[in-house]
Amino acid sequence: QIQTKHGESEDVEDLTSMLPTREGWWRPLFLFQDHWLTPQTVKSTMLVQAQFQPRADDIILATYPKCGTTWLKALAFTIANRSRHTVTAGGDHPVLTKHPHDLVPFLELPHRYLHPIAELEALPSPRLLSTHIPCALLPSGVSALGSRVVYLCREPKDVLVSMWHYVNKVRKDFYIDLDKAFEFFCEGVTFFGPFWDHCLGYWKQSLEEPERVLFLKYDELMANPTKHVKMLANFIGVPFTNEEESAGVVEKVVRLCSFENLKSLPANSTGVSDRIGGLPMENSAYFRSAKVGDWRNCLTEEMARKLDCIIEEKLKGCGLSF
Ligand code: A3P
Repeated sequence: QIQTKHGESEDVEDLTSMLPTREGWWRPLFLFQDHWLTPQTVKSTMLVQAQFQPRADDIILATYPKCGTTWLKALAFTIANRSRHTVTAGGDHPVLTKHPHDLVPFLELPHRYLHPIAELEALPSPRLLSTHIPCALLPSGVSALGSRVVYLCREPKDVLVSMWHYVNKVRKDFYIDLDKAFEFFCEGVTFFGPFWDHCLGYWKQSLEEPERVLFLKYDELMANPTKHVKMLANFIGVPFTNEEESAGVVEKVVRLCSFENLKSLPANSTGVSDRIGGLPMENSAYFRSAKVGDWRNCLTEEMARKLDCIIEEKLKGCGLSF
């Protein structure tokens, strides 16, 4: 049972038992407020909705899983904390010694049954937080108080392929074949899916409130990281000074957080951590190939065409494309 804001208890087991459900991924997914969530995430999302107290100066990094969350965490942490931690390629910068997921906490993970939301309350302002929760399911205070959101999305075929590799890597006792994962993805039945609704929720919000929601794409970040690092710094409210730019600090941030660098660090390439709650994962699982267009190595042209058509149809008229 969880305590809601108003003090009453909600029996979440009962609640999920009444929701439409689909099996096939490593855990069954439930259709909760128009999005497919694991039972654990239904619980933790409800807890976030009931108990998380947003602050006006919060920066929330929002992503659909496998869209570059780990990268965005490293970049935003480095940018936001560069007055305390000088950006260097050596030494004891936290990005060199800690996994990016340990630098920026998720709102909904580990599932709040295990780690009370009070931990987030204890963090000093301004907080750097992250979430996979869809825009419409975030507590209304996030928007009302003006907490800023950075959303990072990615080309859907690469997301699917990245997700497929990831789920098969992190669960030794589970395997889903690509055809099945593709089928689910096309139906919208994926973690926090449908993928297109997740993107569209934040996309529309970014059009309505561009000063509050920054919408980024993985492929564009990859193509021009320097430009995006400056954009991120401006949005977070800590723009690079002329002196910093002349000293090459922007490029140092890009290099520190590059895939090649992060993947090679012991904190990211070795060891196992349980960040979800009851599901220990290899730290290296978040670093695979980081290649734009890697879907070509897995999907057939027919699959690609089918998914492209679905995405085009779902995003029609919204001004968002991949
Ligand atoms: P691939 O599986 O295509 O390699 P998330 O962090 O949201 O779980 O996303 C994981 C994806 O981001 C993986 O994609 C991973 O390799 C890639 N990634 C991790 N760190 C990265 C970085 N520093 N730069 C670019 N991509 C990165």
